[in-house]
Amino acid sequence: MSLVSLKDVHLSYISHSEGRAVEQEVLKGVSFEIGKGEIVGLAGESGSGKSTIARAILGTHRISSGELVRNTDMPQMIFQDPYGALNPAHTISWIMQEPLKMTTKLKGPERKERCARMLEDVGLDAGYLSRKPGELSGGQRQRICIGTALMREPELLIADEPVSALDVTVAAQVLALLKKLHDERKLAILFISHDLRIMYHFCQRIMILKDGVIVEQGTPDKLYRDPQHEYTKLLLTSAGIRS
Ligand SMILES: Nc1ncnc2c1ncn2[C@@H]1O[C@H](COP(=O)(O)OP(=O)(O)OP(=O)(O)O)[C@@H](O)[C@H]1O
Ligand SMILES: [Mg+2]
Repeated sequence: MSLVSLKDVHLSYISHSEGRAVEQEVLKGVSFEIGKGEIVGLAGESGSGKSTIARAILGTHRISSGELVRNTDMPQMIFQDPYGALNPAHTISWIMQEPLKMTTKLKGPERKERCARMLEDVGLDAGYLSRKPGELSGGQRQRICIGTALMREPELLIADEPVSALDVTVAAQVLALLKKLHDERKLAILFISHDLRIMYHFCQRIMILKDGVIVEQGTPDKLYRDPQHEYTKLLLTSAGIRS
């Protein structure tokens, strides 16, 4: 059974301009599934609706029609800007314990113990528990975001441009961490990115989104060697993968 399944999903935003409500349809019939432990890429230019698909899956924005089924606990999300995602006023310990406070009856020392273990899993030592986000590098912050997202042991992680704000070396380390967590925990990842080069190595399947429609999807090998849609060809050319 798939973790999430979307069938012909439409989603519109309503904005208000000069006292009138204006409806903009952003997802125009999106269908796909994500299986257990699968890494699925979602690519497409800015404004194509990638983050909107994430919001639809998380239920933070209601779909206007179609069917969206989640067969798993709430997926967790990480974002491009690991700084904005972390409350600067609190320690890493406080931040990482939060998800446990809401969903478990664990006492303080047990929660702390779990945080320390999770820190190790994301490649940081327990000394970071007492630090605040402002004292960490971008890569370390993203590790904290990943660890915090995994505290509730979700089966699906939605990563929205998780390494776009990081420099190349740090980005590669964070990707390696995501891959390790995928391997160890059978974690499924919806990997949203502009970067088709990164996606080739990271994703098992890639979906190409254009103006709210998935125009093509397939394994990286098939998609990159034999793209069918003009838009896929264009993306590959602008990424320097096709000439
Ligand atoms: N809360 C909102 N209210 C109204 N319109 C919105 C809202 N959020 C997004 N949009 C519009 O929906 C469209 C899709 O936005 P979305 O954020 O999903 O794009 P994206 O593919 O994630 O782009 P990017 O690569 O820049 O992150 C855009 O035209 C955007 O302006
Ligand atoms: Mg986005």
